[in-house]
Amino acid sequence: MVDRLTWHPPDIPEKSHSVGDVRGALYGSRLYEQPEHREWAASVLQFLEAPGPVALEIGFDHGMRLLDHAHRWPEIRWVGVEIRKARVEAAAAHAPSNALLLRADARTLLANLIPEGRLEFVYLLFPTPSVREKHLLVTPSFVRSLERALTPTGRILITTDVPGLADWMEKQFTGWPEADGVPMGPVLSRRERVCQRDGLPVWRTVRRRP
Ligand SMILES: C[S@@+](CC[C@H](N)C(=O)[O-])C[C@H]1O[C@@H](n2cnc3c(N)ncnc32)[C@H](O)[C@@H]1O
Repeated sequence: MVDRLTWHPPDIPEKSHSVGDVRGALYGSRLYEQPEHREWAASVLQFLEAPGPVALEIGFDHGMRLLDHAHRWPEIRWVGVEIRKARVEAAAAHAPSNALLLRADARTLLANLIPEGRLEFVYLLFPTPSVREKHLLVTPSFVRSLERALTPTGRILITTDVPGLADWMEKQFTGWPEADGVPMGPVLSRRERVCQRDGLPVWRTVRRRP
């Protein structure tokens, strides 16, 4: 169990900074090149090819926010990515046609599948404060993949209630200017609800590409 108040980042070796290779990624970072995943990858690309802005929610958990957003903004194509299979299956059953819920590692998806300059909005709400470098989401290579995947006006919303993680992410996003908000409905994520209930301070920022 990670103590949120004392969390600090694990060491990140320089060699793990290259874009495309994601250490510890679910099923490996090159899975979209494998024959058994090509069809799945092609269907994701087909969803992304349709006209209109695309929003990505990373680690959507039960997916209630994402599904609400998809109903509320039908002109946006919503992609959700989550590593927990049961969560993805349960939420995907309720997804409207402008939402695609994927069981995948967000780091691999961003680095190796989402086309350059395709994402208008990214939501990163309360990423897991991992103490293992292999599982930490926000790293220098993640930020580079994100920069590649965003449109020139693209924005990311980031929240955390882990002070050390806020400091770490602030550092990773150095040079990314503060930006206007992103579309936000009234449904709270699970962690947002916990923070509200327990009165925990939340670090929240919206940034755009440098
Ligand atoms: C602390 S929870 C926060 C969930 C939700 N966003 C919220 O605000 O309540 C982090 C979520 O990210 C998911 N997750 C962790 N690493 C991930 C990765 N590499 N790719 C996609 N999802 C990931 C976890 O399974 C978990 O559901």
